Amino acid sequence: MYDQIREMENENNLTRSEVPPTLLITGAAGFVGRNLAIRAKMTGWRVVALLHRTPLPSAATSIETRVCDLSNEKKTVQLIQEVSPDVVVHCAYSKEPDQQEKVIVAGTRGVVAGVKTVGARLIHLSTDLVFCGSQGAYAEEDRPAPLLPYGALKLEAEELVRPLCRAIILRPSLIYDPGEAAPHESFIENATRENRPVTLHGWEFRSPTDRSDLVQAILHLASEGGAPDAPSELFHAGGASSLNRYEFARALAPLRGYDQQLIKKEEAPPTGAARPANCSLISHRLRDRLGWELRGVYRVIEDFLKGVL
Ligand SMILES: NC(=O)c1ccc[n+]([C@@H]2O[C@H](COP(=O)([O-])OP(=O)(O)OC[C@H]3O[C@@H](n4cnc5c(N)ncnc54)[C@H](OP(=O)(O)O)[C@@H]3O)[C@@H](O)[C@H]2O)c1
Repeated sequence: MYDQIREMENENNLTRSEVPPTLLITGAAGFVGRNLAIRAKMTGWRVVALLHRTPLPSAATSIETRVCDLSNEKKTVQLIQEVSPDVVVHCAYSKEPDQQEKVIVAGTRGVVAGVKTVGARLIHLSTDLVFCGSQGAYAEEDRPAPLLPYGALKLEAEELVRPLCRAIILRPSLIYDPGEAAPHESFIENATRENRPVTLHGWEFRSPTDRSDLVQAILHLASEGGAPDAPSELFHAGGASSLNRYEFARALAPLRGYDQQLIKKEEAPPTGAARPANCSLISHRLRDRLGWELRGVYRVIEDFLKGVL
């Protein structure tokens, strides 16, 4: 894809007579953000990538960038005013426990304040982990009750976004790409590389979200506009299949070159483990809006293999 964007620019295919709309992406060097930035640029947006510490991949250097620490609310508002985007896609978050509150909650507060001042549309990425996992097959009407601190902070961030007109909250599940290992797979990769067995939860069910499908859905929603006073909307964005973590790892193993024999299954949660068991999602509302469904894992893998074999 990176080569493709260069080629398109060399051929000057992106020259437009009118001014393209501006898409500001927070967390733009992250797993979702970098793919979104490149796809958005390829489809004619003016993209402004908001970075923190990590740069964009070298082949995407033609994308306009700004650096900002989102935990500084005042600077975040200032930056959004300077860029004056039509749409902001808020992907940034932190995995570091001592940073999570500042980035997820205070960071979102700054983004919401900035979006309000320029009248942009906000597309906010939340998570399936806002649910406790006791039920599974969650729809948007179901009441969130997070078990993990991360899920609780993401829910707090959702509450900040909810009153905003035209805003969209998307709740993806585990995000993956058949062509590139996601950060949440690194422990499997490390163990199998060292020929160590790795145990995956056979009891933890999710609806993994293919990164390309998610990015395509975001770009679809970003281009809709929406009436200025339209209330915010919530969409589940899980893939069409529900798998446990063990099945998911086994499905990806041949693509990643992992030895499947090293992937072991944990049948039941250890006593006292406070992790949601079944956060699978029903994403029919998003399917109806897009006119197509985010694909399930086996279909994504099949489509990927058709493209490479
Ligand atoms: N990945 C999943 O499986 C998954 C599942 C459900 C929902 N989500 C949600 O989807 C979104 C995107 O996830 P992802 O996997 O793309 O995340 P990611 O790869 O970890 O990227 C997160 C980005 O946030 C940036 N960031 C961290 N602290 C920041 C700060 N103080 N100021 C500004 N930016 C900061 C990071 O920049 P630096 O690296 O430079 O610090 C990084 O580029 C997140 O909101 C996440 O909650 C993800």
